[in-house]
Amino acid sequence: MKSITVLLLALMAGVVYSQSTDNKLVVNCDLGETKISKHVYGHFSEHLGRCIYEGIWVGENSSIPNTRGIRNDVVKALKEISVPNMRWPGGCFADTYHWKDGIGPRENRKKIVNIHWGGVTEDNGFGTHEFLDFCEQVGCEPVICGNVGSGTVQEFSEWVEYINSSAESPMTDLRKKNGREKPWNVKFWAVGNENWGCGGNMTPEQYADDMRQYSTYIYNYSRDFQNYKIACGPNSADYNWMEVLMKNPLNQRMFSGISIHQYFVGNTWGKKGSATQFGEPEWYNNLANCNWVADLLDKHITVMDKYDPERKKGLIFDEWGNWFEQEPGSTPGFLYQQNTLRDAVAAGMVLNIFNNRAERIKMANIAQVINVLQSMILTKNEKIVLTPTYYVFKMYKVHHDATLLPLNLTCNEIKFNPITNHTKLPYLSASASKDANGLIHITITNNSAAEKQNLSIDLRGFLKQLTTVRAEIITAEKINDFNDFDQTEKVNIKEFKAIKAKSNSVMIEIPSKSVVMLELK
Ligand code: AHR
Repeated sequence: MKSITVLLLALMAGVVYSQSTDNKLVVNCDLGETKISKHVYGHFSEHLGRCIYEGIWVGENSSIPNTRGIRNDVVKALKEISVPNMRWPGGCFADTYHWKDGIGPRENRKKIVNIHWGGVTEDNGFGTHEFLDFCEQVGCEPVICGNVGSGTVQEFSEWVEYINSSAESPMTDLRKKNGREKPWNVKFWAVGNENWGCGGNMTPEQYADDMRQYSTYIYNYSRDFQNYKIACGPNSADYNWMEVLMKNPLNQRMFSGISIHQYFVGNTWGKKGSATQFGEPEWYNNLANCNWVADLLDKHITVMDKYDPERKKGLIFDEWGNWFEQEPGSTPGFLYQQNTLRDAVAAGMVLNIFNNRAERIKMANIAQVINVLQSMILTKNEKIVLTPTYYVFKMYKVHHDATLLPLNLTCNEIKFNPITNHTKLPYLSASASKDANGLIHITITNNSAAEKQNLSIDLRGFLKQLTTVRAEIITAEKINDFNDFDQTEKVNIKEFKAIKAKSNSVMIEIPSKSVVMLELK
């Protein structure tokens, strides 16, 4: 993206801001303390639909260019957004996964039924070695979710040993026999998935007991790092689950982070709405659902603060994103959905909400990386499409491991007819950070489908004179524009110029339905 050096103070002398505005953003440029972990920009790949097979794995003999069976185009696209981590193998699939089915010569691997996702045959062609090769090619850290729902403590513990141990043992011998000499040193281990549902329908008390036992045997094989163990947290607003897991110090001792999952629909859960055929009511309803995640997080964080006031435990949002009706004609159970400008604004808003809670949120994984739910990439044979959500992740790379700048945003709420009880939607959302080179980045969404917004930004504590403003925008003509195979991209990052800057303030006119990034120096 070509950068634009805009307005030196001298050039700006005498500029009259003719438009008045109620929207005000104060960024506290001198109060940054907390790092926004790059892991908040993580991804999720499940054996579901065409995420793994076709999306990532095409096999060595495919005519689609690949490296050891993994698509080159997909790896290249994911490297461009600096994917920090990848969660695998599920999701609900993880709750039925037995890792030994997925190692050794591919022709001998066991075929199983993927009971959760379409009842299709899973041939285990993509297993531990293939996933870890994929992560190495992308340059991201693996997040492996173990089977607590239908597996055993021994099975999980042997998986950790197979992957991380360098000592001589039956598991390391097996790994070497399968072609991998050195351990992979995987740090992130999830102790089960959705154990309140597809992971065993457990009560929080039962899960807590099981979690302590499983966690005990997720042994640290390396002297260089401690495993980061992620306990299964609540389903959405189940604050009791959080309470049970957090209040007992014996539980807390056994995990580093606790997860939460939340998806957002366009209509109601019974009728999720089309991903592309929608009007303003569904636009606002979906974004109000997304905005509600701020309340949800704050309530969970209040529970966590009660039992962990020093904020040592991370809140790990390891499944989030838009969930609409799957595309007409796609295979039932495969959750294939298109991705529009609405998904871009939704992602921008949710990521701003996560950034602003960086002290607690240490990792998040959007669902899912390819061909499933709110994807980064869609594939059709040898073709790929980068979605509007992909471009938000590209734009927000500036926040990876940067220092969060606390801010105060004042703006009106949008009036719309709510379909559910999530009724609150401010016109704007924002977050800000300062990177290692001292550059300040502010990301903003205009959540209105139709109205542009003026915003005055006060860079409080910014003691230098503002010299450079570079800005980017993601928007489109229509609220439901999307990128598709065989058409030029309708939604992408463009240079953005509607900015006026003076010594330590910025005035910006933000087009309706957009995501904007400002870079200030
Ligand atoms: O991402 C799709 C599914 O949603 C996952 O398998 C499950 O964990 C969640 O309910």
